[in-house]
Amino acid sequence: GQAISPAETTVAVIPAQPAAPREVTILFGSQTGNGSGLAKKLAKRLDEQHVKTEVLSMSDFKPANLKKLENLLIIVSTHGEGDPPDNALAFHEFINSKRAPKLDSLNYSVLALGDTSYEFFCQTGKDFDSRLAELGASRLVDRADCDVDFDETAGEWMKAVTESLSATPAAATTAAESAAPLSADPESEYSRSNPFRAEVLENLNLNGRGSARETRHLELSLEGSGLTYEPGDSLGVYPENHPRLVDEIIEEMGWNAEEQVATGKSSTAALREALHHYFEITVLTKPLIEQVAKLTDNERLLKLASPESAEELRAYLGENDLLDLIRDFSLKGLSAAELTSLLRKIPARLYSIASSSKATPDEVHLTVRTVRYACGGRDRYGVCSVQMAERLEPGDALPVFVQHNPNFKLPENPDTPIIMIGPGTGAAPFRSFLAEREETDARGKTWMFYGDQHFATDFLYQTEWQRWIKDGVLTKMDVAFSRDTAEKVYVQHRMMEKSRELYEWINSGAAVYVCGDEKNMAHDVHGALETIIAQGGGLSPEQASEYLLRMQQEKRYQRDVY
Ligand code: 2AM
Repeated sequence: GQAISPAETTVAVIPAQPAAPREVTILFGSQTGNGSGLAKKLAKRLDEQHVKTEVLSMSDFKPANLKKLENLLIIVSTHGEGDPPDNALAFHEFINSKRAPKLDSLNYSVLALGDTSYEFFCQTGKDFDSRLAELGASRLVDRADCDVDFDETAGEWMKAVTESLSATPAAATTAAESAAPLSADPESEYSRSNPFRAEVLENLNLNGRGSARETRHLELSLEGSGLTYEPGDSLGVYPENHPRLVDEIIEEMGWNAEEQVATGKSSTAALREALHHYFEITVLTKPLIEQVAKLTDNERLLKLASPESAEELRAYLGENDLLDLIRDFSLKGLSAAELTSLLRKIPARLYSIASSSKATPDEVHLTVRTVRYACGGRDRYGVCSVQMAERLEPGDALPVFVQHNPNFKLPENPDTPIIMIGPGTGAAPFRSFLAEREETDARGKTWMFYGDQHFATDFLYQTEWQRWIKDGVLTKMDVAFSRDTAEKVYVQHRMMEKSRELYEWINSGAAVYVCGDEKNMAHDVHGALETIIAQGGGLSPEQASEYLLRMQQEKRYQRDVY
């Protein structure tokens, strides 16, 4: 399988060299902030071993300096179809180009972050790892590939890296010990691995009657948690599975709901509880298919897991959940212990925070679209969004943590103009930006592009934007309602209509932010920005694309896309 579980990670440690303090460069590339968080923790650990470190976002690293490095540690995540995150794009391109230098005297190692439910699991990390080897660099320790629950694997890798780089090998620590400090936030005892139970204060549907959409506005209390956040950060939420799906699985398998099953190295729970709160049952992964195929020796399943069936497997994973797998491959007969031992922990969902802690202290607000659709003759539910829509009331608690995102931040200078493009739930962080700018009396101009299906029912937070316009917090707003007219209009069409003025803002230093759907909206908005810059600046398409890349490197073009 592609997933390297901590137990399988082979770590080849080169002999420690008792020479002068080693100098180590740690480069991170990630969209959500996991990469930078891990990089800082690794640096802290190496510092404790008297290893000199420099931590940089890949977008801040000058490729010309590559040849001067002695030790390079890369922490990088993967997106969509195996793509690098925004802040890794330029470096990834450079290192894979003919311009990349020979690196015979470089030692390196890669920590790859990813998700086994995606076909191109950890692809960007794999790219860096193989390319650096090709350029002549030597691995300090083998690459480690992390699934969404990355603490343990990342902890193992850090331990191995630290041992190989310190003059005196670090005292042996167990994987659990080395994983423990990973998620610790200096300000709070609560973290990804120890979430805070936040009380629900408010839970409203923002869409009007008759809308095809349902979008929940959730207000949660962070009182007493010590958790802090800035505009642009996300909230991680651990959801619960739908009780109906849990019961259907138990019934289909003929299991006993009260049977105790393992939910960790030293914890157990009743089966129904475990499937409700702990195991992922709505998403299938390639490693799971492979392991179930091996366990059952089922011919059809073995074929589906074989390399020749990659296309079929991809289609199958995209449409089916655990109940489908059980039915399609007659898995009845497997014990609850056998099957659950192969399941992943429910991964946390990340939502862009929609509030400013300066404006609403001790609270955090989310904007969550309810995901419901039918597939294969069954109704399907977004695990977290449907829990919020159907089974979460004021007074209930949700396990949460703050995910800091250094890649989506307001400009340091409050006078810098900002352009915000956020249709649908993409508006969430901009509600946070404007609340913050209002609360801090920031003077920079602001321009918001918003869109959704219908003006009458889908204009999320309409009265708030209007009040901000009236009060001068929001300088300009353009909206695109796609289904009110015969011809669809999207945010990028509105941007093109304002092409000249947008270019003037950009050319005089405005920062551009895009939040929301990646594949369609953010892609098309990127194209519109290229056209606007090419037209406004009289540039060729290539020059315009370089201009945008430079903006990205200068953090004047930031995206929070999903
Ligand atoms: P549609 O569903 O009517 O096509 C928020 O989800 C809004 O984004 C909706 O109005 C949706 O329009 C729109 N949208 C869909 N595809 C888009 C694209 N490629 N670019 C911009 N907006 C898009």
